Amino acid sequence: PVPSVQALASTFDSTSDIPERYIRPEAEAEPVADADEGFELPVIDLRLAQQSQEECDRLGRACEEWGFFQLVNHGVAEELVDKMKADIAEFFKLPLEEKEAYAQLPDGFEGYGQIFVKSEEQKLDWGDMITIFTRPHSVRKMRFWPTHPPTFRDTLDKYTSAVKDVTSCVLEVMARNLGLDSEVMTKTFKDHPQGVRINYYPPCPDTKKVIGHSPHSDATGLTILLQANDVQGLQLRKNGKWLPIRPLPGAFIVNIGDHLEMLTNGKYKSNEHRVVVNTEKERMSIAAFHPPRHDIVLRPLPELVQGGVENYKATTFADFMKGFFSAKLDGKNYLETLKL
Ligand code: SIN
Ligand code: FE2
Repeated sequence: PVPSVQALASTFDSTSDIPERYIRPEAEAEPVADADEGFELPVIDLRLAQQSQEECDRLGRACEEWGFFQLVNHGVAEELVDKMKADIAEFFKLPLEEKEAYAQLPDGFEGYGQIFVKSEEQKLDWGDMITIFTRPHSVRKMRFWPTHPPTFRDTLDKYTSAVKDVTSCVLEVMARNLGLDSEVMTKTFKDHPQGVRINYYPPCPDTKKVIGHSPHSDATGLTILLQANDVQGLQLRKNGKWLPIRPLPGAFIVNIGDHLEMLTNGKYKSNEHRVVVNTEKERMSIAAFHPPRHDIVLRPLPELVQGGVENYKATTFADFMKGFFSAKLDGKNYLETLKL
């Protein structure tokens, strides 16, 4: 297990040396787009997209050209979102020993701890995380669900339920955009598997030297991300530069994962993203992942190939996940190995 970065950072001041394992020369080397370079992440109105062909097509274009969009008018109550944010902040305020009560088991995946660290030599990200499988109910391991603050479990259950419903609506709009029977999506995402990763990025006196979350695309179908406090840090790769994302108040950031890229035969694209950290302020986020059903063979949907060629090698869901988590987290490198 690797140490908690939050605990490490709490001992830091501006004169402290960052441990070698966290120093990432590439963090500084890659160009970041300026706010005035005119990239604007598409903003999609969910209620409108359900009714209007034009907004549905805008959503489709965002999935093709960006793999990301901001989602507004999604119907999740503001109070619920605020409660989720507040409970996350409370959880990370707990003393380390109390957070460690939810630590991953040896060789486990779920819980408080890193899921991308595989070797002693590997460079480390400047962030902590807790991973929890939320759906279907049968997969829940309550030992990993924080009991402090006392409302945490209830809030997480309600929040993820609402986000699951948003996901179903987005998938339905996507089906329409792709010319698919909505049943195709319903079947592919049957039982609504869902997991969350809650991220905590402590401040770092020398932000240019570290990375909060290494560049990656998501090993899932659809991700619904909430920046849980007012500190920005998410960047996505666009035209060879890192583009900082500024979430609109109340919006979710939605992104296409590798599985949806495969299922759509590459029409929708997952996009590489990373997180940079702030000098003074901590940053928190919660990402809800919605993979397809786990007994699926991941391959382009026949309806979207139609006599053309399949652009991805078929693989079972389990093999994909095994391959993804044993490869180095580095952009879209694992998906590349499945391209035909
Ligand atoms: C992630 O890509 O999983 C983290 C995104 C974020 O913290 O904003
Ligand atoms: Fe991600």
